[in-house]
Amino acid sequence: MSTEIQTELATEVERRRNFAIISHPDAGKTTLTEKLLLYGGAIHEAGAVKARRAQRKATSDWMEMEQQRGISITSTVLQFNYHGYQINLLDTPGHQDFSEDTYRTLAAADNAVMLIDAAKGLEPQTRKLFEVCRLRSLPIFTFVNKLDRPGREPLELLDEIEQELGLQTYAVNWPIGMGDRFQGVYDRRAKQIHLFERSAHGSKEAVDTVIDLGDPRIEELLPKELYYQLKEDIELIEGVGPELDLEELHAGLITPVFFGSAMTNFGVEPFLNSFLDYALKPTPRTSTLGDIPPTYPDFSGFVFKLQANMDPKHRDRVAFIRVCTGRFEKDMTVNHARSGKTVRLSRPQKLFAQDRESIDEAYPGDVIGLNNPGVFAIGDTIYTGQKLEYAGIPSFSPEIFAYLRNPNPSKFKQFYKGVSELQEEGAVQIVYSVDESKRDPILAAVGQLQFEVVQFRLLNEYGVETRIEPLGYSVARWVTDGWEALEKVGRLFNTMTVKDLLGRPVLLFKNEWNLQQVLQDHPNFQLQSVAPLA
Ligand code: G4P
Repeated sequence: MSTEIQTELATEVERRRNFAIISHPDAGKTTLTEKLLLYGGAIHEAGAVKARRAQRKATSDWMEMEQQRGISITSTVLQFNYHGYQINLLDTPGHQDFSEDTYRTLAAADNAVMLIDAAKGLEPQTRKLFEVCRLRSLPIFTFVNKLDRPGREPLELLDEIEQELGLQTYAVNWPIGMGDRFQGVYDRRAKQIHLFERSAHGSKEAVDTVIDLGDPRIEELLPKELYYQLKEDIELIEGVGPELDLEELHAGLITPVFFGSAMTNFGVEPFLNSFLDYALKPTPRTSTLGDIPPTYPDFSGFVFKLQANMDPKHRDRVAFIRVCTGRFEKDMTVNHARSGKTVRLSRPQKLFAQDRESIDEAYPGDVIGLNNPGVFAIGDTIYTGQKLEYAGIPSFSPEIFAYLRNPNPSKFKQFYKGVSELQEEGAVQIVYSVDESKRDPILAAVGQLQFEVVQFRLLNEYGVETRIEPLGYSVARWVTDGWEALEKVGRLFNTMTVKDLLGRPVLLFKNEWNLQQVLQDHPNFQLQSVAPLA
């Protein structure tokens, strides 16, 4: 490879930053995304992202919703430039859309932004997504949002993150008051105060004035008790707070915390600037050839998501690929590691919201969408040059279960073909009852949306109408030592025994409490939350 291309690769990697936002619905992800895109000039008008969301919420008809959204049923990749950086925001879907894709998106991210509502603190979906980030040791940036509204004490919020997530915190800035009395934040690095002044029209867009901590005007500008409180707080955080150690941040052990208000655009720009200073650029990834740096000259990447287009006018499928090494070029021919076939990557797409735009090249850290001729499955590696394969994407422990019924026996063949293809594609996990008289597949998913997708696609692509019959279980555990171990423990109450596609035993529990009971009663009985690798 020429040194010219080598230099180009190094430059492109150096300026790329990629992240996903993890949050619970309503914390302000749409709002924050929109403000970030405004800085990048990717959208020109506040409200563009919001409008889409409103449109989505307005209809309860999922299929109609899907057609409106076109391709972006789940995650979309938003790409924008800012201060010379190329930023890729991998959008994890909101809760109405929660599915395994939400998790898988994190497999393609290099950094995560944990967005928290100051009044609510940690919420269930944030915790779940955090666990996935932890598995990958992703660097986590925390943005505590909605400071313009009454919220919880900042110290209490930091404490919750430390205690519940076992993640050290480092406050990058510190709020002065909250809600009606919110005055702004103290920026520890610059030793400056950003004053928050509500605009005349409510607080839609706040004015941000910056003054030095040593400036005597501060005493007049801040209410007395908040000024004294700030002095105390500064002493406290400087005294006990650990330094922000970049190595620890990059190992996912400490999180820088920013306080702000996305809606009023307060604190978003400083956050973006610090994020760019601290975030990980695309890093080496583990493969069968060892850890491969992004500047490795040959192209490689992996599939982290497959998506069937729900719009009947465009009945194509798209494979989303995270570029890991080398340069991607339009129409290039690559090797598909699992099948050993070669594939021509034509019609590559960059994905920005609903618009698809054709691209000519992409670099490590980018995501491209490829029309999937049916060869790709989740976790597949594509490469040029020497053969390599990236570590697969783990499957996730399902939490909702339902029988999938086919009321029309004449559609038997299409039904099983569809179910098996959708399972292979990773749309849903499937298990079967051990009771031979109950032959219908049991869908196992992390979110309701997955059931809807399966039903919709079975109807549209295979012509089979189906019925869903929910099962009242919420926890699945694979029996580590197989059927023999299960027989040894004898009868278990409040559980259902099922088998996965490889015939391995899986126990379904009504709830976490039932699971703990079983573990207590049988201390040597080993269970695991995801399937053992085949
Ligand atoms: P999500 O994508 O995480 O679900 O959250 P989204 O951005 O849609 O925000 C949820 C609600 O919280 C919205 O209000 C939004 O305006 C509000 N919000 C977001 N950031 C802030 C903030 O910094 N301060 C305050 N006070 N509110 C914030 P909504 O009433 O549901 O929608 P809308 O009528 O404002 O559009």
